[in-house]
Amino acid sequence: MNKFYIETFGCQMNVHESEKIAGILSGRGLYAADSAADADVIVFNTCCIRDTAEKKIEGFIGELKALKRADPSKIIAVTGCMTQQIGRAEALKTRFPFIDVILGTANQYSIAEKIDRILALNKRKTCIEVLSDEKPCIREDVPILRTSYPNAWVNIMYGCNNFCTYCIVPYVRGRERSRNLSDIKAEIVSLLDAGYSEITLLGQNVDSYGSDFSDGTNFYGLLKELSTIKGKFRLRFMTSHPKDLSEDVIKIIADTPNFCKNIHLPVQSGSDAVLKAMNRKYTRDRYFYLIDLIRRYMPECGITSDIMVGFPGETERDFADTTDLVERVRFQNAFTFVYSPRAGTPAADMEQLPQAVKKDRITRLVALQNRISDEISLEYLGKTEEILAEDSPRPGVLVGRTDSGRLVSFGGEKSEIGKFFNVKINENKASALFGERV
Ligand code: SAH
Ligand code: SF4
Ligand code: F3S
Repeated sequence: MNKFYIETFGCQMNVHESEKIAGILSGRGLYAADSAADADVIVFNTCCIRDTAEKKIEGFIGELKALKRADPSKIIAVTGCMTQQIGRAEALKTRFPFIDVILGTANQYSIAEKIDRILALNKRKTCIEVLSDEKPCIREDVPILRTSYPNAWVNIMYGCNNFCTYCIVPYVRGRERSRNLSDIKAEIVSLLDAGYSEITLLGQNVDSYGSDFSDGTNFYGLLKELSTIKGKFRLRFMTSHPKDLSEDVIKIIADTPNFCKNIHLPVQSGSDAVLKAMNRKYTRDRYFYLIDLIRRYMPECGITSDIMVGFPGETERDFADTTDLVERVRFQNAFTFVYSPRAGTPAADMEQLPQAVKKDRITRLVALQNRISDEISLEYLGKTEEILAEDSPRPGVLVGRTDSGRLVSFGGEKSEIGKFFNVKINENKASALFGERV
C-alpha cells in the first residue's frame, strides 16, 4: 500500500484539513496519487452546507463502487462535515457498504490508526468513528502537506457559536476554540522562513478570535502582533462577521502594508426582517456603516460577500432590499446562493418558499452582481498592480491576485511562482482580467 488520493469538497477550512490528512498519510510513507483509480487509499473530505453539495458528493462516492469492485484491497475513507450530521454516518454505511472508514470532523486525525486496523482485519466491516464532542482539543502536532504554495492556510480558530438559523456549521464543527496566539505567530514565521509569500488566516468568524480565552485576547490583538513580523509578505483572512468586525481591525488593516486591502464580509440579506429571522444580529444600517468605515480608511479595498435568496418568509420587498443593498455597496464579487434547508436547523422547520420563486430571485441577483463585477473589472483596465504569481493550468501562463483580491492572468514560467510582479492590466475577457508584466 503506497499511494493516497484525497478529494476535497467545501470551504478553505476543508482544503486545509485535507492538507493535514495528507500530512498524516505521507508521514506513514504513502505518496500522493494523481487520481482515485491510481490510489490505494481514497479519502473523501466532505461538505454539507447545501443540499446540492451533498447530492454531488453522494454521486461521486457512488462512482467509487466500481473501483472497489475491481480492486477490493483499496481503502475508502469518508470524513468531513457531512459525516458529522446526526444519523448520517449510519445512513452512508447502509447506502455505500463498500466504504471502509467513516470519521467525524473531530476524529479525522486518527485516520492512520483506522487504516492500520482495517488492514489487520481479514474480513472488512465499515468502521465508524463520529464523536459528538462539542469542544475537541486543538491538536498542534499534526503534520501538514501543503498544496497551495505560495499561499499557506493558517487556522486561528475552529468551530462556530453563532447559530445562524439556516446554517449547519455549528452542528458539525462544534463550539469556537481559538489557537494560542504564540502558536499562530510561530507557524506564520516558520512558513515565511520556508518561502511562503501569502498567509490566509482561517476561522468561521475570525472577529471572535480569542473570545474563549479569559485574558482579553482578541482578533485586533492578534493582527497587532502579526503586524510586527518583518519582511514582505501578504496576509489575508476569512471570514469576517458584520456583527463583530471592529473599527480597530479595519484601521490596522489600513495601516499595515503587509495586510491585504481585501475584506470578505458576508451580508446574506439586505432586509432587516430576514436578517433577524436568520439570527445574524446586525441590521442593514450597521452593514452600510461598516462599508463606509472600510472605504473611509481604505478607498481601494476589495469588498466581497456571500448573499442568499429564498430564505423562509423572504418577500419580494425583502428581496428588493437585498438588490438595493447590492447596488449601493457594489461588491467586487459575491458568492450567491439559494437557501437550502438543512435538517436540524431552525429555518428548515419554517414554511419554505416555492422553488420557482427562489429560482427567479437567484437569476435576477446573479445578473445584477455580474453587471457590477464587470463594471468594477473595467476600472482595473490600464492600471498597474502588484500581483503574487500562482500556478495556472495553462502552460506559459501564471495567475495571481491584486492586493485587493482580483485575479489577473499574465505570461510567465512555473519557476516564477511565488514571486511578486508589477502587471499592467489591459484586457477584460468574460469577467477575467489579463495583463502584461512591466
Ligand atoms: N462562517 C461564514 C460562512 C460559512 S458558510 C459566515 O458566517 O459568513 C458560507 C456561506 O454559505 C454562508 O455565508 C452562506 O451564504 C452560505 N450558506 C450557509 N448555509 C446555507 C444554506 N443552508 N443554504 C444556502 N446557503 C448557505
Ligand atoms: Fe454558519 Fe453563521 Fe457560523 Fe457562518 S457565522 S458558520 S453562517 S452559523
Ligand atoms: Fe466548510 Fe462545508 Fe463544512 S462549507 S465548514 S466544509 S459544511
